[in-house]
Amino acid sequence: MTNDAQPRTQWLGRWGFVLAATGSAVGLGNVWKFPYMTGEYGGGAFVLVYLACILALGVPVMMTEIALGRRGRGSPIDAIRRVAAESGGASLWSLLGWMAMLCGFMILCFYVVVAGWSFSYLWKMLSGGLAGSSVDDMAAIFGANNESPLNLGFWSTLVTLATMVIVGKGVQAGIEKSVSWMMPGMVVMLLIMIAYGAFSGGFGDALHFLFAFNAGSLSSEGMLAAMGHAFFTLSLASGAILTYGSYLPRNASIGRTTLTVAVADTLVALMAGLAIFPVIFANGMEPGSGPGLIFMSLPLAFQAMPLGTLFGVLFFIMLSMAALTSSISMVEATVSWLTDNKGISRRAAAWGTGIVLWIISTLAMLSFNVGAEWTLAGKHFFGWLDYLTSRWMMPLGGLGMVLLAGFVLKSETLREELGLSPAMHALWLFMVRYVSPLGIVVIFVDALGIATL
Ligand code: PFF
Ligand code: NA
Repeated sequence: MTNDAQPRTQWLGRWGFVLAATGSAVGLGNVWKFPYMTGEYGGGAFVLVYLACILALGVPVMMTEIALGRRGRGSPIDAIRRVAAESGGASLWSLLGWMAMLCGFMILCFYVVVAGWSFSYLWKMLSGGLAGSSVDDMAAIFGANNESPLNLGFWSTLVTLATMVIVGKGVQAGIEKSVSWMMPGMVVMLLIMIAYGAFSGGFGDALHFLFAFNAGSLSSEGMLAAMGHAFFTLSLASGAILTYGSYLPRNASIGRTTLTVAVADTLVALMAGLAIFPVIFANGMEPGSGPGLIFMSLPLAFQAMPLGTLFGVLFFIMLSMAALTSSISMVEATVSWLTDNKGISRRAAAWGTGIVLWIISTLAMLSFNVGAEWTLAGKHFFGWLDYLTSRWMMPLGGLGMVLLAGFVLKSETLREELGLSPAMHALWLFMVRYVSPLGIVVIFVDALGIATL
């Protein structure tokens, strides 16, 4: 552990951390997962629970994680152990760091497959491979793209390689710069799609679907899914934000930073919903079509709109970039743990991790073709990676973080680290002590059917 001897690398600019954390947060979760889950769980009520979870769980947990990272100046495992020890807490708390690191890695194993879809659709857009005019045509194209393990494996391998090249080069190089043009680019693309949707005939239905609250439409399972997605979309309890926080300079404001990231992430998700659902309703597509939803709907809009090919190409470039700025953040915890503790170089750590990633992500990729039948309790391997991380590991990890911050750490530690006004600090403490843990526990108990009252 070299952390006390050497100052840890820090972000370059004043905006460095905000850009990197936003790059981590904004990704496939917003544009791919949020719309398809909203479609699957029936719309407005899901969106409402998701938004409530962002506020009541996501924001306090993100502040806590950044503070833990900056205080402990290390990978999640080392940082949590150090910060807990400082308050006389048991070293067992570092298990929370282990779970986070594992969780980030497990997410990455299926994330590269989805990012591979995005890259392959960029290629299809460029090469005219998306010619088709009906929902059925698009479903067939999506299906054919998945059918060959060599084709799909090519794209996920490409994403794995790109991720590891960037990570191998270090935390600052590239990340800050790419996010500073990728984010505005993404927003512009979504605005174009929304403007198109506003004239396409499905916009009213989309608004109603996303924002009309129909209490009866949300199952307990849907609430658990919404909570899990709030953690997923903000990159929480999976090592990314905590590790990025460990590179944050002392003088940066954690509260303001967190709000910026959470607002940007939420806006992009809602914009993606507003861009995608008009296309779905205008074409009579089923909102609950599952993980292929955006790939089977958006190309229809690109076919029909003026300059559609250009916009389609730009859109998939943005989505692929957004996926990469997220995927690199998922390995950062593992790589920083390896370099801090095993005395190996960043490059060696990145490539070692990359090999394991490649093997497991290839298994996840096979879930869409030859391994479609390799199921357990009805879920294939890809499904299990998603389910275990979003429904279990992230909410439980988040619970651990708030309990640690709220009840174990000396009150001075996080007061200093967060540097909030007394009133805001009291609010944060109230959230991490009571609101966040209770919220998580209640949703779990409800979903598990423990309370059958
Ligand atoms: N927040 C990312 C997204 O919404 O696409 C996904 C993610 C990134 C999850 C990093 C977890 C993580 F550690
Ligand atoms: Na996100």
